[in-house]
Amino acid sequence: MGQAFLYGAATSAHQTEGNNVNNDWWAWEMGRPTEKRSGLATDHYNCFREDLELAKQLGHNAHRFSLEWSRIEPRRGEWDRSALAHYREVLEELNKLGMTPFVTLHHFTNPRWFAERGGWLKGDAAELFARYVRVVADHLGDLAQFWITLNEPVLWSSLAYWQKRWPPQQHSGYKFNRVVCHLAAAHNKAYRVLHQKSPRAQVGIAKHLVAYQSASEAWADRAACRLIDWWFNRRFYSLTWPRHDFLGVNYYFQRKVQGQMLPLKIRQSDVAGGKTDINWTVAPDGLRQVLESLRYLERPIYVTENGLADANDRLRGDFIRDHLRAVEAAQANGTDVRGYLHWSLIDNYEWDLGFVPRFGLVAVDYKTMARQVRPSAHVYKSIIEQGRKESLH
Ligand code: BGC
Repeated sequence: MGQAFLYGAATSAHQTEGNNVNNDWWAWEMGRPTEKRSGLATDHYNCFREDLELAKQLGHNAHRFSLEWSRIEPRRGEWDRSALAHYREVLEELNKLGMTPFVTLHHFTNPRWFAERGGWLKGDAAELFARYVRVVADHLGDLAQFWITLNEPVLWSSLAYWQKRWPPQQHSGYKFNRVVCHLAAAHNKAYRVLHQKSPRAQVGIAKHLVAYQSASEAWADRAACRLIDWWFNRRFYSLTWPRHDFLGVNYYFQRKVQGQMLPLKIRQSDVAGGKTDINWTVAPDGLRQVLESLRYLERPIYVTENGLADANDRLRGDFIRDHLRAVEAAQANGTDVRGYLHWSLIDNYEWDLGFVPRFGLVAVDYKTMARQVRPSAHVYKSIIEQGRKESLH
């Protein structure tokens, strides 16, 4: 029998753990209003057993989380054994509960010492990352098979070095591209390290993919659509090919693209659909589109993120059902999709937007840190149970 389809949820360290005082986001938050600082986040560093137990009760057989580099290497070359021991406990707990771990090595945050010396702009950034990955592989490599080196490298570089939204808030095409290239080198090195240390490792990236559609049949629109699709969705694969054992897909957006030549202008607009609390359009068919667009790479695919901000849980149940139907449609068209990890298991710190957007299957009361399962988590559970029954026939 082949591997069972993996159903679960995803989280990241800085958004959930709390008190990640040694990273560049924490330093940046200190200059922002109090309600926009991560602080104790969801206190997941202390509550992880309770949270993972909830995931288990909700039927999940897989779970994605990230390691916080700045906890493991708080100062250059200094390795914190208690942080490594903590992540061993998390992985042991997941294995005990029968949930397949997907371990992310970099989810947007950088150690402060790394950022202060120039971060991903520096020529030796990839080597420093590979050194961290080597230590992780030595201490944790026996407990996990699936490794995600980087989360959304192109989106992160764009927000930090082009759009000026995230730290270090710069706007430079040269820097944006340099950072993307260094992240690609970091993936390539980490891929080699993980395979050297652990032969059964499956290594990939969680890539943010946008389902672009040309706004019309006009040549300029189609050309613009192909160009942006190449730059944002595909180029990173060519910089890192063939070092992917699987493809991780984070899917949130479908967009219409209009193009104008001389001077070159690319305009994006929303497709029709319901709106989430932060005005993102719900477009499940885009998930089918991006999954099918990866078939040419001939690797197994896992949806490593997909979700919505929906505090009152009005849309989440249908959202999950419709996106899982899109996965099935892609499979029916010959796409090898092997898992779906919803974003997110619990409400968490949504970066520069603070705590207002609620992405969790489980709600968090930030005053008491109490967890409350949302009804949609049960919808997801019943889909999972149904899926399991069907796979037995
Ligand atoms: C990121 C998450 C984030 C989610 C919702 C993804 O791009 O990986 O960290 O919370 O989107 O915005």
